[in-house]
Amino acid sequence: MHTTVADSATSTSHFEALRALYECHVVPSYGRFPLAFVRGEGSWLYDTEGRRYLDLGGGIAVCCLGHAHPAITGALIEQSRRLVHVSNLYYTEPQGRLAAELVRRIGPGKVFFANSGAEANEGLFKLARKFGHAEGRFEILTALNSFHGRTLAGIAATGQDKVKRGFEPMTPGFRHIPFNDLHAARAAISPATVAILIEGVQGEGGVTAARPDYLLGLRALCDEHRLLLLMDGVQCGHFRTGRFQSFQRILEGVAGGEAFLPDGISMAKSLGGGFPIGAFWVREPYANLLGPGTHASTFGGTPLACAVALKVLEVIEHEGLADNARALGEFLLNALRQLATKFPGVIADVRGLGLMIGIELRPSLPGLPGDPARSLSLRFVDQLHAAGVLAVPAGPNVIRFLPPLNLSRDEAQFGLERLESVIAKIAGGFETPKPPAPDA
Ligand SMILES: Cc1ncc(COP(=O)(O)O)c(C=O)c1O
Repeated sequence: MHTTVADSATSTSHFEALRALYECHVVPSYGRFPLAFVRGEGSWLYDTEGRRYLDLGGGIAVCCLGHAHPAITGALIEQSRRLVHVSNLYYTEPQGRLAAELVRRIGPGKVFFANSGAEANEGLFKLARKFGHAEGRFEILTALNSFHGRTLAGIAATGQDKVKRGFEPMTPGFRHIPFNDLHAARAAISPATVAILIEGVQGEGGVTAARPDYLLGLRALCDEHRLLLLMDGVQCGHFRTGRFQSFQRILEGVAGGEAFLPDGISMAKSLGGGFPIGAFWVREPYANLLGPGTHASTFGGTPLACAVALKVLEVIEHEGLADNARALGEFLLNALRQLATKFPGVIADVRGLGLMIGIELRPSLPGLPGDPARSLSLRFVDQLHAAGVLAVPAGPNVIRFLPPLNLSRDEAQFGLERLESVIAKIAGGFETPKPPAPDA
């Protein structure tokens, strides 16, 4: 007879039973926090012990409409009653309509559907190789501190050694350049170079936005050298910054910005609001490079995934969530900057765009509890968990907030208050005490 989690719960906690199941049966490739969730509603998650958390991590920029959004539930039910899957040997309406909606929000071109961010990027790599093949060009320049996924080509493209370690030799054809450094990009171009790939806002690398002059400069550089300019919008895309793609936000009001378009963009995460779907858009002149038989994905663009993604777009538009991301992002950034001023011994920097926000911690925080072998960011997130807030570490000392785009002002305020209580506790005795208030 099999022991179920419920059976085990009679002798041990539900959480410990779950953890034991994972230890026995799940490949331990993830470092997990000691939390297990059973239910979500809006911006809130509920764990196995019935505790409630404000989800400011949003499933790492996935749950753009929060949890259990009735429109997503409705789209899943409705479409699954009609048609879940047919192969890409055939046409379906949701895939065609979603492609048209994505093209409408980016620019003239076409879309290929996949299942994840890494797979979307793989498609861009193949597009670039096909583009340069006749001339023997294959090399893609990517940025230091970038993140592009965990497939073999994804880790080769990612500009962080930690994802490559133990998996060498790397897939050839990728070289890294410093981010936001146009001179370095120009200097790195070789006769084999075929494309440059960057994130509009580096996420895993610690929430760093591309500068407008860097984007425009890369566009000109790529035109000059006949390179494809590719952008990874997996984390920073889908209205998170207040516009559909981050470059649209970064280049707002910048001379020449409205005309800017990359040649390819990868998407995933928020595209399905929690239902797995990835995609890449390719600009018009290159839209037919990947002809019949050159690229495929069994589950790419199923009617179910596309119906959900269409609904996500509809809700974002209908509820004005791009504007909410922009306004609430501004509110949070301002409040966090005030916290940084109040607690300079804890917060070194606050940065972000819309609802993609990073807090950089000071490199040494003696007041931060926990095993010193664990990074500052992990231990800080532990403290946030204890205070009922979820956030995502980015590297050793940055905390990321990637909340649902429909987060409310009250929820943001709640998160700020809990964050401040955590910071105040860590700051403890080593902050300069405020001067006493003058006598009334
Ligand atoms: C910028 C970026 N690209 C690609 C990926 C990989 O996406 P996935 O995990 O869906 O393969 C991620 C995931 O965090 C990401 O942040």
